[in-house]
Amino acid sequence: MSATHTLSWSDELLLGDPRTDHTHQEFIDLVNATTAAAADQKLGVYRQLVQHTIEHFAQEERWMLACGIQPDFCHFGQHASVLQVMQEVERRALNGEVEYIGSMIEALVEWFPSHASGMDAGLVSYLQEKGYDTATETFKEGATADSAALPSCGHAPDQPCA
Ligand SMILES: [Fe+2]
Ligand SMILES: [Fe+2]
Repeated sequence: MSATHTLSWSDELLLGDPRTDHTHQEFIDLVNATTAAAADQKLGVYRQLVQHTIEHFAQEERWMLACGIQPDFCHFGQHASVLQVMQEVERRALNGEVEYIGSMIEALVEWFPSHASGMDAGLVSYLQEKGYDTATETFKEGATADSAALPSCGHAPDQPCA
């Protein structure tokens, strides 16, 4: 097992929203479980990772929409591109081409920490500013929904969203 095929949880990945942090820990566990799985189990574990990622991204996107963030915001686009590749790898593996799972995991290991500390961290602070409670998916009493600036997506303000 190569170091580039696993992720470790660290305090740097803690964003301070318990639901987000829990989901991210589960994501990391499933990435590592895919790497650790025996060859004949790998596709099954990878499919659990894909399913979990669908729900993980949908959860964040539901929160963004609830707070009035438009669906063309780059955070949605980044989720969609990652998921599209993950599902293509799943489709190929179901056709017997399982060798792409390893490079997919390598790409996710590379991608996840910067996504978490950029877009997801920006989202968490935006939700907190808006008074949106991710546990109940409602606004806290007295929340001033209009006062927050749009979340940072990890780019400098003068750089376009990629
Ligand atoms: Fe996330
Ligand atoms: Fe995200």
